[in-house]
Amino acid sequence: MRFFQLKHRIFTLIFTALTVFMLGGCGIENMDEILNADTSAKTQAMEKGGNSDDYYNKFYGEAIRMATIKEGTKEILAIDALPKDPFGNVNWTVSVLKGYINPRPSLDAEVVDDPPLNLNVFIEAKVPLMYNVIFPHSIHTYWLSCNNCHPKIFLPEAGANPISMEEIFKGQWCGRCHGKVAFNFWPRSNCLRCHMVPKGQSLERERYK
Ligand code: HEC
Ligand code: HEC
Ligand code: HEC
Repeated sequence: MRFFQLKHRIFTLIFTALTVFMLGGCGIENMDEILNADTSAKTQAMEKGGNSDDYYNKFYGEAIRMATIKEGTKEILAIDALPKDPFGNVNWTVSVLKGYINPRPSLDAEVVDDPPLNLNVFIEAKVPLMYNVIFPHSIHTYWLSCNNCHPKIFLPEAGANPISMEEIFKGQWCGRCHGKVAFNFWPRSNCLRCHMVPKGQSLERERYK
């Protein structure tokens, strides 16, 4: 299982790396020296009358003063390269399936990943026109472990959970992640990522098992 937090760790890592890189290119006086913080730079800073605490305070003070902050993560080049949804957010499913990314199961190189669970659950939308929902275990268990969902969010039994769209919009059920850390509800094409089976197809339940 992939740890759910891994995605965020990777963001933080890329972001930090990029910030440091951009600062390096700004021509800040002594920045190279500070970045390649070796003992001699440290010693020099201390010799100028400070101690090692001042040295770090100076670095962070300078980093904050010089930083150009843009909201969100869309400026990150690595993310620019990934396929987006119509909302402008990364489509992580396509990124995985098309091989753009292949995250490790763990920061620990020894950890071996379990294969994703190949089990689709058919959830009928309880109104006439709305397409029915397929819940794919495969892509979820690629990123997540069983206990991220079972038994706290969903009892592991088809039809056993009184899921409704209203409650999903309020952040329950699928909305525990979707609309927050997994893809958003809007625009309409995102509705269809869950509501993917048109009503009235014969044997639809069987086809998606
Ligand atoms: C993350 C998956 C997901 C997304 C995205 C999603 N839905 Fe749903 N939707 C569900 C599930 C699960 C149900 C529950 C099926 C049921 O029992 O009716 C549902 C049910 C519904 C229903 C049936 C009535 C109800 O409250 O249960 C409607 C209408 C609906 N969704 C509309 C939408 C619209 C409009 C969007 C896009 C803005 C959307 N859904 C996006 C998962 C999703
Ligand atoms: C992202 C959330 C999520 C994760 C992670 C998850 N499941 Fe599920 N699981 C569901 C949902 C949603 C259902 C359908 C519940 C319903 O229909 O009310 C379900 C249903 C099931 C069912 C019942 C299927 C049936 O046909 O009755 C089993 C068994 C199951 N899960 C096992 C697992 C196992 C094993 C894992 C880990 C390898 C896992 N699940 C991971 C959300 C999840
Ligand atoms: C514990 C978190 C979590 C819960 C709960 C959850 N999902 Fe997801 N879901 C994810 C993640 C993570 C992905 C990978 C794609 C992404 O991050 O946008 C995903 C992807 C999907 C996909 C893949 C299709 C695509 O176009 O990306 C579908 C369909 C989907 N979810 C439906 C559902 C439905 C329906 C429910 C509720 C029954 C649900 N999910 C509940 C986290 C969750």
